Order: sequence, then structure tokens, then C-alpha cells
Amino acid sequence: RTVHVLNGPNLNLLGKRQPEIYGRDTLEDVERNLRALAAEHGVEIGFFQSNHEGALVDLIHAARESADAIIINPAAYTHTSVAILDALHTFEGPVYECHITNVHKREAFRHHSYVSARADGVIAGFGIDGYLMCLRRVVSQLGW
Ligand code: DQA
Repeated sequence: RTVHVLNGPNLNLLGKRQPEIYGRDTLEDVERNLRALAAEHGVEIGFFQSNHEGALVDLIHAARESADAIIINPAAYTHTSVAILDALHTFEGPVYECHITNVHKREAFRHHSYVSARADGVIAGFGIDGYLMCLRRVVSQLGW
């Protein structure tokens, strides 16, 4: 029972970066909340962040060996990256796409996601609670 949570560029600055848009919660808060929920269900969390597209591709490949499901916030690469989409197509388990903000309420260039073509579900606009909602879905979907 292992879920890898992957975070894309600039999310290392969550809490400091445009807090009027992304809120004051940090990526450490996201990780702590996820680990607490995961522990209730006997789930191991691998928690990662990278500012580099290829590194995210490598993390998805690594998840093929060691994770049952992926929760990914690809951040800006959501809207640009065929490479991340293709990498996710090599992963056989559930994939959930999570956005802190409601991307559909924002600039038009955020309305399209390459990643959604592979995601089993998409959450947007629930703040950092969205990550927990994705994890709850994985737990129920996999019968954990
Ligand atoms: C984001 C939305 C993206 O459009 C943006 O580039 C991000 C974060 C979100 O979580 O709301 O960096 O994925």
C-alpha cells in the first residue's frame, strides 16, 4: 500500500508564493496532512517535488516499481507537458490530478490539462484539502 505524491515546479514555495492565490499552507503542511491520513489506513506515502520536467518523468518511472497509485500536482507542466502525460501512460495504477486552485476560474491557458487525459479523477479549487480527497479516493478505489 504505497502512494507517491508528486509536485511540480514552484510548489516548493507554497505558502510564500502568491499567498493571495495559493494560500498560506506550505508543502510541508500538505505532506504532514497526507501522512496522518495515510497512517490511519496503513498506507505509505512517498512525497516528492521537483522544478524540472525530466525529473518528474523519472519520478513517474520510479513509481512504476514502487507505488500502487500516483497523486500528482504537475503545476505549470499541467498545461504544457506531453512528456509527463506520456510517462503517466506507462503507469498502470490509479492516477489522480490535484490542483490547489480552481484552474477553470483563472487564465484561459490554465483551462487545458495534458495530464487529465490520463487521470482517473481531477480535483481543483479545494486548496490543500484536494490532496487528501485524492488519497481518500485511492483508498476506497483500491479497497484499502
Ligand atoms: C496549480 C495550478 C497551475 O496552473 C499552476 O501553474 C500551479 C499550481 C494549482 O495547484 O493550483 O503552479 O497546479
